[in-house]
Amino acid sequence: MTTDLLAPFKLNNTIELKNRVLMAPLTRCMADDNLVPTQDMVEYYARRAETGLIISEATIIRPDGQGYPNTPGLFTSEQIQGWKKVTDAVHANGGKMFAQLWHVGRVAHPHFFDGDVLAPSAIGVEGSVPRMRELTYITPKAATTDDIKSLVADFAKAAENAIEAGFDGVEIHGANGYLVDQFLHYAANTRSDEYGQTPENMSRFALEVTDAVIAAVGSDRTALRLTPGAYFNMSEDSRDKAVFDYLLTELESRELAYLHGGIFDDSMRFDSLEGKSISEFLRAGYKGTLVGVGSYSFESAKEAINDAKFDLIAIGRPLIANPDYISKIANGEELVPYSDEMLAQLK
Ligand code: FNR
Repeated sequence: MTTDLLAPFKLNNTIELKNRVLMAPLTRCMADDNLVPTQDMVEYYARRAETGLIISEATIIRPDGQGYPNTPGLFTSEQIQGWKKVTDAVHANGGKMFAQLWHVGRVAHPHFFDGDVLAPSAIGVEGSVPRMRELTYITPKAATTDDIKSLVADFAKAAENAIEAGFDGVEIHGANGYLVDQFLHYAANTRSDEYGQTPENMSRFALEVTDAVIAAVGSDRTALRLTPGAYFNMSEDSRDKAVFDYLLTELESRELAYLHGGIFDDSMRFDSLEGKSISEFLRAGYKGTLVGVGSYSFESAKEAINDAKFDLIAIGRPLIANPDYISKIANGEELVPYSDEMLAQLK
């Protein structure tokens, strides 16, 4: 018997999804200047409520988490009220929605806030802020243990704010070279204290954030996105695998809503992961609900799910091009191909 991706899936005892197709988190840089979601964003997300679960674009937990223009936040009451309009509209259309909680760490830029750029270690990245190329990245400050405590607390606070804003849960953004991921890779973490040097220490921040968020909103409403293979704002190190092996074992006991790979093309294989792709590596080390992502079509996702490679699929770019992706798939209609020009407008 083959699995029907368009049939309901029970995430846990409290959340049932109407199908296995998730909307991947997609940064659009279209919040207003106070980082509040706009009416256009309300309509954009509401149009995609046929998916089993919408994961919001990455949403910053506090001002120094910002590294791109007009990315929404979840730390002021105005932002919470703005998101409430989004979640109300999604719920009115029968959908469910998680907020992706984000701190960019060393990819932050002080153009956007007052204060230090914080990271595990004082190791910068080359390059500049996308869409604002005149803003080159600076060398970050290594976070003190007090900084780390406040970052963990602010992830938990943002999770609480997300629930107040009507989200059904949160996905911690632990992927793609941002703050949580920076602690997990040797290229960005050279700390000599209890947050560095060993798999256990390097996993500590990710686990503290996860546990604080679980304590705030419950494990059934907590998910995590990870990128075990470095590919974006990060370089590979053969020692990274041991960190993720340890982390995955620890995560298994947390009973998260799901674990989600972060990658653009899941056919990419990593030397640092002994030649495995992101989903292969995560599946080998983690038995809970796993979300696959990265250049999948509905057909290739169906095959992967039927081969038990993961349990749910997240679709990104095709959902930018096709707000009605699910109906088109259900009716056998052709999809509009994605192109980068579509990013200029929120449709
Ligand atoms: C992304 N992606 C992404 N990932 C994430 O964790 N948080 C984010 O905010 C974003 N933002 C974002 C914006 C845009 C314009 C793109 C194209 C991608 C990555 C995304 O979630 C997904 O992993 C990839 O797009 C691969 O899936 P598809 O597009 O091949 O289905």
